Amino acid sequence: MDFEFSEEQLMIQQAARDYAQRELIQDVLERDEKAVFPEKHIKNLAELGFMGMMVDPEYGGSGMDTVSYVLAMEEISKIDAATSVIMSINNSLVCFGLDKFGNDEQKKKYLTPLASGEIIGAFLLSEPEAGSDATHQHTTAEDKGDYYLLNGTKNWISNANSASTYIVMAQTHPEKKHRGINAFIIEKNTPGISLGPHEDKMGMRSSDTHSVMFSDVKVPKENRIGADGFGFKFAMMVLEAGRIGIASQALGIASGALERATAYAKERKAFGTELANHQAIAFKLADMAVKIENARNLCLKAAWLKDNNKPITVASAMAKQYAADMAMEVTTEAVQIHGGYGYVKEYHVERLMREAKLTQIYEGTSEIQKIVISRDVLKD
Ligand code: CAA
Repeated sequence: MDFEFSEEQLMIQQAARDYAQRELIQDVLERDEKAVFPEKHIKNLAELGFMGMMVDPEYGGSGMDTVSYVLAMEEISKIDAATSVIMSINNSLVCFGLDKFGNDEQKKKYLTPLASGEIIGAFLLSEPEAGSDATHQHTTAEDKGDYYLLNGTKNWISNANSASTYIVMAQTHPEKKHRGINAFIIEKNTPGISLGPHEDKMGMRSSDTHSVMFSDVKVPKENRIGADGFGFKFAMMVLEAGRIGIASQALGIASGALERATAYAKERKAFGTELANHQAIAFKLADMAVKIENARNLCLKAAWLKDNNKPITVASAMAKQYAADMAMEVTTEAVQIHGGYGYVKEYHVERLMREAKLTQIYEGTSEIQKIVISRDVLKD
């Protein structure tokens, strides 16, 4: 087993670290407070090649591997997970899906500007009554011959306003249940699409989240991804890859919290000595470090499996469930170590704790990951 990173992987990690620590940090508190979309940073991340990291340069991407993506996601998320989720959705849910399952025409027209970061994308699966229970899609896509007619509502859509291109799942053959679902590429400015209000979220506040309504939206037939009825499998396969991104995000949030808690414990004095000299605090830091290392190994293993074209369903579910739950524990401890200072915005750890919470919910809750993992444990 080789635990060394290549020179290229280390350079990508360093580039992400430098950008996050020098640039992203500067306005992160203000963006969080005012829920301002990080437009300038997304442009800069695109210039670094981070918006289509794993896509072939032929289609506008950077041709990097998934291990590099994990390293970059960790560094960006240490400082600002609201920015890293925009990057993650574009990379894993949108670009990966088009790269793996789109045809050449679709890749030329849609993947190329998405992977280069010229535009960004969104993934529209969740609905008001179909979140975890994703097979029960109520949005319909009626086959009208040379086009599909879409009607319905999608919920909790990250990048809904900032994206130009949507990947949308909708039901074409209700009698076939999930085997009747299709996936479509839809341009956001298509007539009949409207957005609900900006969701005022607890964390990840500068990423834009809205519901999206479709009212008699005409979608050309050539915008369907894959064969008729492939949409649910498409969504599942894209999500299982996407979970590596969110697992790495949770890892980054936790390692950012550990870095801040460690620095604070070395500086702040109580009872005549630095907090770090109190075993109650030092042992907390040790526990946090072990959990973070476990999560990092799960993320890297899932990434390595994906890079080597091996099954990732269980590995990505394990990485996401463990990293997300771990991030919640570690950020809570980081706030505790900071005491009262941890509860105010200036010290960042309360924001990291709010960000960690969402990693347990989106792209499949921790409970959904446990369904996937337990089915594998229990199978014959
Ligand atoms: N790869 C390929 N196919 C898969 C699959 C996978 N990983 N997982 C399931 N499938 C297929 C199954 O083989 C089955 O197909 P067939 O019947 O043709 O064999 C079909 O999908 C249905 O599978 P199940 O019978 O297992 O369905 P289920 O309802 O029992 O459970 C589930 C499926 C795993 C719970 C799934 O519904 C799920 O993952 N739910 C969570 C959805 C989710 O992650 N939502 C997040 C929204 S996206 C988001 O958050 C983005 C954002 O903006 C941040």
